Amino acid sequence: MTRSRPSDSASPERVGLWLVGARGAISTCVAHGLSGLRQGLLDSTGLVTARGPLAELPLLDCGQLVLGGWDVCRRPLSQSASELADMRVLSGPLVAAAAGDLAAFEQRLRAGILDPSDGEPADLDPQAASTSRLTPRQKVARLLADLNQFQRDSGLARVVVVHVASTEIARAPAADWSDLASFERALDDGRPQPASVLYAYAAISGGFSFVNFTPNVGSAVPALQELARSRGVAHCGNDGKTGETLVKTALAPLFVARNLKVLAWQGYNMLGNRDGEVLADPLHRAGKLRSKSDALRAILEDPGLHHQVAIDFVPSLRDWKTAWDFVHFEGFLGAQMSLQFTWQGSDSALAAPLVIDLVRLTELAQRRGEAGVMEHTASFFKSPIAGGSHDFHQQFRTLIEYAQRRG
Ligand SMILES: NC(=O)c1ccc[n+]([C@@H]2O[C@H](COP(=O)([O-])OP(=O)(O)OC[C@H]3O[C@@H](n4cnc5c(N)ncnc54)[C@H](O)[C@@H]3O)[C@@H](O)[C@H]2O)c1
Repeated sequence: MTRSRPSDSASPERVGLWLVGARGAISTCVAHGLSGLRQGLLDSTGLVTARGPLAELPLLDCGQLVLGGWDVCRRPLSQSASELADMRVLSGPLVAAAAGDLAAFEQRLRAGILDPSDGEPADLDPQAASTSRLTPRQKVARLLADLNQFQRDSGLARVVVVHVASTEIARAPAADWSDLASFERALDDGRPQPASVLYAYAAISGGFSFVNFTPNVGSAVPALQELARSRGVAHCGNDGKTGETLVKTALAPLFVARNLKVLAWQGYNMLGNRDGEVLADPLHRAGKLRSKSDALRAILEDPGLHHQVAIDFVPSLRDWKTAWDFVHFEGFLGAQMSLQFTWQGSDSALAAPLVIDLVRLTELAQRRGEAGVMEHTASFFKSPIAGGSHDFHQQFRTLIEYAQRRG
């Protein structure tokens, strides 16, 4: 990361949080979480930035955030909230207390852009549907106009764009993404690009920092990393590490430390929320599976490791994701043993505080002029754009060292 404009004062200004996938489960939990924190109805359990030494950083106060965003469906936020209350993720009193904040957030929602190859959500917003006819340059212009208007109308010092939209179909690396000049040429020639790449390009070219919480390509490609460095923009991603992969990347270093040989590591995930429904399609699932598998092979330094991850859509589980992992390993004397764990968690309640943490860390990096990939955020992601390691303990040490050095 390059540092260009150091400033250590806490920001008293209003800061924008622009959510891509604003009507989804994570966005809805983020909005309720922020409202609950502001009103003193929730404590900071689950927020990494609330613990030392991160809490000593001059991070923005959650009350400074103004929310807006894009989505491609018309599902009212009140419906997303009541679904989550039904699933026992949000409490009834919190939903009631946050209703005013949610209504203000909904006023600031705009139609996002749609890439036809990703399919269409239920209750498609016709305005979003019409964007599939636009050229990539026209889509970017429209996105930038929305971001600039949000910043102007709400009097915001900075805006952090957070991508929490549905998982796109998996894409192989494209030649268009290899450097900025090739990417600009591809846009000029009207070659279609994944929506996540256009969202990232619009944000970064407009000087807005960008967080990609999804396995989508986003700002990870060399072209956009180059753009972020040249525009002085902080960014990070990809794919929030909230559940099974978090546990895997915390446990795997144990086998390395004790020189135990992992023979096979099998993971089976069941989830029943809208994300799970999208992941039921093999083309969408492929990106998530890649993101969930790479970390283990890297930590165990065994590219040939017998390792499979499966994801099944089980509607009755709703947001309560259940993962079962089976690790077969060998010790001294050739003794073969196994470890199994079961993880059950609310996917959205695990994700929301991490999104808030990332917004606070990204806003600080942007305020301080720390341009480029935020390597210190690697512990938050399954596929960190940079950061050197998948080992959760090492990643977390890097975050703590950043806080101690920069606090
Ligand atoms: N919950 C977790 O623990 C977790 C962890 C890591 C990554 N993620 C990722 O976060 C994302 C969001 O998860 P969720 O549970 O909130 O999903 P969700 O399905 O509830 O919400 C996604 C929202 O994105 C919208 N959307 C779809 N395409 C869009 C587009 N082109 N532009 C703008 N909006 C679009 C959908 O209409 C929907 O409202 C998913 O990609 C998921 O894989 C979630």
